[in-house]
Amino acid sequence: MTRWAWAGVSAAAIQHNVREIAGVAGPAQVWAVVKADGYGHGAELAARAALAGGAQGLCVALVQEGVALRAAGVEGPILVLSEQPAAQTRAALDADLQLTVYGREGVTAIADAGGMGHPVHLKIDTGMRRVGAHTNAAVAVAAEIEASPATALAGVFTHLAVADEPDNPYTEHQLDRFDDVLATLHAAGHHPPLVHAANSSGALAHPRARYDMVRAGIAIYGISPGPGVDHLCTELRPALSLHARVAHVKRVTAGERISYGLRHGFDRDTTVATLPLGYADGVPRRLHAVGGAVLVGGQPRPIVGVVTMDQLMVDCGDDEVAVGDEAVLIGSQGGHTITAADWAERLDTIAYEIVCGISARVERRPV
Ligand SMILES: Cc1ncc(COP(=O)(O)O)c(C=O)c1O
Repeated sequence: MTRWAWAGVSAAAIQHNVREIAGVAGPAQVWAVVKADGYGHGAELAARAALAGGAQGLCVALVQEGVALRAAGVEGPILVLSEQPAAQTRAALDADLQLTVYGREGVTAIADAGGMGHPVHLKIDTGMRRVGAHTNAAVAVAAEIEASPATALAGVFTHLAVADEPDNPYTEHQLDRFDDVLATLHAAGHHPPLVHAANSSGALAHPRARYDMVRAGIAIYGISPGPGVDHLCTELRPALSLHARVAHVKRVTAGERISYGLRHGFDRDTTVATLPLGYADGVPRRLHAVGGAVLVGGQPRPIVGVVTMDQLMVDCGDDEVAVGDEAVLIGSQGGHTITAADWAERLDTIAYEIVCGISARVERRPV
């Protein structure tokens, strides 16, 4: 053990979740999104587990993420989800990464890097307004891709902005636009083999968005994309837990105050345990101020005082607690469970940000 803090990651849970999503979204293929180090779970572990669970491909954000997977021996199709610096194209071709293109520059970069019939996916912006070709430009860009000997049109896709709000009509609006683009492409003689639009919530909540494949990220990690689709995620199993061991125990007396700024005061004598995890590990500094707690001795223990860079403190009352006792920050102990979504709700963010925020210095241990 290198330190008294670690994240447990379950490949079995990821496999199970991919099977669940495939069961719902099939016959559409599932491509597992393993960018950002597998949403903080470890990209290689996540990729292998997802492929073992039946994923037909993988998606990454960066060329270097795909290159690292290849270096680790991961096989199967890997799609880079957005255009990347032209200087990265050669590495992408060498690693056999499928590339996203939204304009002529993307095609030129692949030709300049020596591509030959390289599979690319044309990204269309149907209303997310982040990246992608304008709907009016789709046919022209598809024609560029098909005309160039460097590239082959392997797919056409879009991305949904509010798929996690099942009642929001904007998703239908985006899909209507996407269908219009697909019809125009077909009329112009372009027949991309893979059409895709759905992220996790698209796959789970919008049958119409499934097309040929879904790009499932958060759900493969067993986390709901958001409260609006929680009811569709009951069969998913969280793959990540976060643990520490108590590093120090002391009694504090009524009237004392604790941590930077002395923001928390005690109105009774109590036992305080210190855990060696802090905001540099991804436990937000202000989790103390929004009612954050940690499981120690099978009970939720409130975080007292601001979370510091490497350590945080919890109030254990008059209960027995000893150095070396296990604490659970995300996961279950003694019949209680704290989820990444619980943190997210308190912190007014999304569970994605919580798991992606668990930093590299927290060892990921397969469980
Ligand atoms: C283009 C694209 N597709 C799919 C996903 C996966 O989304 P989710 O994690 O909600 O499944 C993402 C994630 O941000 C994305 O950017």
